[in-house]
Order: sequence, then C-alpha cells, then structure tokens
Amino acid sequence: MTTARAHTNIALIKYWGKKDPDLMLPYTSSLSMTLADYYTETSVHFDASLDADQFYLDGRQTPAAKVSAFLDLVRQQAGRQEFATVTSANHVPTTAGLASSASAYAALALAASTAAGMELSATELSRLARRGSGSASRSIAGGFVIWHRGHDDATSYAEPVATQPTIPIRMVVVLVNGGQKAVSSRAGMQNTVATSPFYSSFVTSNEAAIAPMQTALANNDFTMIGELAEASSYQMHATMLAAKPALSYFEPKTITALQHVQQLRQAGIPAYATMDAGPNVKILTLAPFVDRIVSTLRQDFKTVTVTQPGPAATLID
Ligand code: PMV
Repeated sequence: MTTARAHTNIALIKYWGKKDPDLMLPYTSSLSMTLADYYTETSVHFDASLDADQFYLDGRQTPAAKVSAFLDLVRQQAGRQEFATVTSANHVPTTAGLASSASAYAALALAASTAAGMELSATELSRLARRGSGSASRSIAGGFVIWHRGHDDATSYAEPVATQPTIPIRMVVVLVNGGQKAVSSRAGMQNTVATSPFYSSFVTSNEAAIAPMQTALANNDFTMIGELAEASSYQMHATMLAAKPALSYFEPKTITALQHVQQLRQAGIPAYATMDAGPNVKILTLAPFVDRIVSTLRQDFKTVTVTQPGPAATLID
C-alpha cells in the first residue's frame, strides 16, 4: 500500500476555462498558493484479486467512477491491469469553505503512480494530476506555484515559481456557506467559455497578469501581489456573470465579507479578496494583520480560519 499527502491550493491568478476538455488544457496559465493546513491523504493498493476498483472516502465506501477513470490513466502509463483499493481522507473540512479536488487528485496521482511502480518526476506528476482536476496540477508543488497553460499534454504542467517570496503571506478563509456548490466548475467553465462575451478579454488580461505576479512575488511587493490577485478573481467572476445563463457564486453574505475587505483596506490594512467557484471569501494578507482581520470578520461570520503557504505533495509511511 502506498500513501501520499497533497495540500490544497488557492489560485491568485485564476484558471477558468478549458481549451481541451479531454486533456484538461486551460486557456490561461494560473498561479496559486499551496495551503499549509488543508490536505488529503490517499492510499492505493493494486490487487489482482479485485474485479473492480474500490473507493473509500473518509471511511465510507463511495462510487468509484471518477477515481476509476483516473486510475485507467495510471494503468495505461504503467502497463498494469489490476484494479485497486483507494482509501482517501480529506483534512480539508468542508466547513472551511475550501474545495478538495485539487488536493484529492494530486494525492491520488502520487499514490497511484508510485503503487503502480512508476517513479514520476514532479513535472510528470503535475501533468497526471491535471487530468483529474486542472487545479490539482498545482497541488503537486509547494509554496507559490505556476501552471503553464502549455499547448499539449507535455507542455501543460505546474512548478514552483522561480523566486518564492520571503514576506509572511497569510490567507484568512471566511466561511459563507459550506454546502455543495450548485454549479460544478466543469459546467460553469463550459458555459462561460461558450457564451460569455467577456471571456476573451478575461483570457487576455489574466494571461497578462502572470508575469507581473511572478515579479511581485520575487520582489516581496505585497501591494502588487494583492492587487493582481483581487483583480484576477473579480475578472473571473465578471466573465461568469456575463454568461448565458448568468453564473454567480455570490451569496448575500459574500458581499458582506467583500465590503469588510474594502473597509479594512481603507483603514490601511493590507487585505485583498479572492473567490473561487463558491460563495466563500479568502483574504490575502501579511502575518502582522491577521488578528485585526479575523476579529473584524468574526463580527459577521462564525468560521474564520487562517493558513499560510504549505509544502509539496509527498509520500508518507
Ligand atoms: O480544477 P477545478 O476544475 O476544480 O477548477 C478550479 C477553478 C477555480 O478554483 C475557480 C480557479 C482555480 O484556478 O483554482
């Protein structure tokens, strides 16, 4: 049995839209922070006596179709036939308002490829994880990570940015609603790409933000990091709002959280908001300002958690 742990990540420059849905090639590059406190641990055991893949998630047997489809890719690459038992535990509480597909497929890619006898490089692992969920390509690496959009399977992978920042960047996660999202990112992306008149400008401006974000990270320029991250998030949500039918992940309390962020900034606190395919708000800041931000958000929200940059995916005993 082989066990791997992978941490989830939040994009600062977003990925929204697939150019090639089969290979999961995105229209834009993206750039994320891997999170220290939220991760998935997954064990894989290939077993010749099984007649189907078995999947246990957080202690419960769960339909294995998606996991099986991913294992088919691994079996193909490794030249193996056996089915496998996959046991997975999410340390990404849904109450934290974070998605777990990134950490889930990154952990599965590492555990399954190793269990199948392959020793993939970080680049190869990232390409494999990408096939499960685009954002999973970024959870193979730690710290701040760039996913190069590439133009084919070989060139679309994630790696750590060349120069990591040394300032104490923190993320405050504000839970607005921990429930399942109504529209999956897959469906939301498809609809946005197909119908939003703003989609091509999102692609242009998002792609143009990648290099400045790398420079801002290398220069420890937190204001620039925050401004670029917040703009990418709002632009992604704006392009969704213009789709037909309009797609909005905002809830009334999302706006409340975003207003807090604006007011904090007006009061001189470095705080910038980012959101994904759900109503929860993540606030990017620096360590000295975490307490002030948490106490402000706790006026309106019960669950406010804090995390920081986390490590790469790894095998564990
Ligand atoms: O990898 P997916 O299919 O879960 O899509 C992730 C999409 C966003 O979280 C909204 C943005 C991103 O880059 O992670």
